[in-house]
Amino acid sequence: MTKTYNIAVISGDGVGPEVVREGLRVLDAVSRIDGFSYKATHYPYGAEHYLQTGVMMPDGALQELAQHDAILLGAIGDPRIEVGLLERAIIAGVRFGLDLFVNLRPVKLYHEDLTPLKGKGPADIDMIFVRENTEDLYVGIHGFFKKNTPDEVAIQEMVMTRKGCERAVRYAYELARKRAKHHRLMLIDKANALRGQDIWTRTFAEVGKEYPDIHQEHAYIDAACMWMLKNPEWFDVAVVPNMFGDIITDLGAAVQGGLGIAASGNIHPGQAGMFEPIHGSAPKHAGKNVICPVATIAAVAMMLDFVGEPRAAARVEGAVAGSLASRRITDLSTSSGVPTPKYTDIVLEELHARAL
Ligand SMILES: NC(=O)c1ccc[n+]([C@@H]2O[C@H](COP(=O)([O-])OP(=O)(O)OC[C@H]3O[C@@H](n4cnc5c(N)ncnc54)[C@H](O)[C@@H]3O)[C@@H](O)[C@H]2O)c1
Repeated sequence: MTKTYNIAVISGDGVGPEVVREGLRVLDAVSRIDGFSYKATHYPYGAEHYLQTGVMMPDGALQELAQHDAILLGAIGDPRIEVGLLERAIIAGVRFGLDLFVNLRPVKLYHEDLTPLKGKGPADIDMIFVRENTEDLYVGIHGFFKKNTPDEVAIQEMVMTRKGCERAVRYAYELARKRAKHHRLMLIDKANALRGQDIWTRTFAEVGKEYPDIHQEHAYIDAACMWMLKNPEWFDVAVVPNMFGDIITDLGAAVQGGLGIAASGNIHPGQAGMFEPIHGSAPKHAGKNVICPVATIAAVAMMLDFVGEPRAAARVEGAVAGSLASRRITDLSTSSGVPTPKYTDIVLEELHARAL
């Protein structure tokens, strides 16, 4: 019997609908090749919906999203609306609301010309970040005292729990074991200056006793940023608290060819995960047919792997890799001159060529 996957789709704002449309073209093609089907249910959440209804995410939306096998997200954010309001309600709302505690970010280079790093190639840039996704400075505990006075005080609390650290660390050890690279796991933190982060150091060491086959490494976030540019080949799997993970994975995007290729998955094993390009809604490029959809296509590949279609996932990733390695796609930026659907056409040609 044909397996059918239920996919919730939140196209969102700005360029979101354009890139999601292209991602769904690839999902459609690979479903035919690999013989599964899917039902996409579109949810209108985002700026337009908010402006028309005053609602960001209705009551019951999270429960409904959770009923799906996975969620595909475009991007959220609109300059007409208060900074971060919709992003916190929808992106963080789903991440926190569904307790998607891992943000998984592969950083893989498919052609040496795509990286700004001199002398580095695909063999050097192939790493994956496990960013803790539900704690840290993002829990929203903040406040202002004597606001708008010369004596104003602002606080934003960094919250870390043993449970939160442990499940991210454990996921990362398992991933390092599964990944046939070097069986190395690096903890990245700033526990020398932020002593609260000692919880990460201790958890990493304790859980690590169960994984004697995994080589444990450690780097402070500032040094890790430097090493990523100087010696990216040192990185295999890395686990990192939420805030630093947010930043270093954008550095990862730069190293692998830009926001046009960088994809991520928000995961809680056994539940619906959310997959997305890491870029935002890029409002100034919306509707101009210039945005690169490859990151969303790569997110579709991650989603397929997650729902249990590893062959289809490998096929899509292979088609992306092939399009870049063969130089049929040479530029993932908005100034490439390549219209948005043309990128997908090339990936689809690769996909079909591989299916022969
Ligand atoms: N996950 C999300 O939905 C998400 C993530 C980041 C930012 N945002 C929101 O998006 C809005 C815009 O944020 P921003 O301008 O800082 O970041 P952005 O990622 O939207 O865009 C920054 C720049 O990156 C480049 N870029 C982005 N996506 C690209 C792609 N697919 N192909 C080629 N180039 C691409 C463009 O030059 C763009 O101007 C804000 O409201 C922000 O809060 C949302």
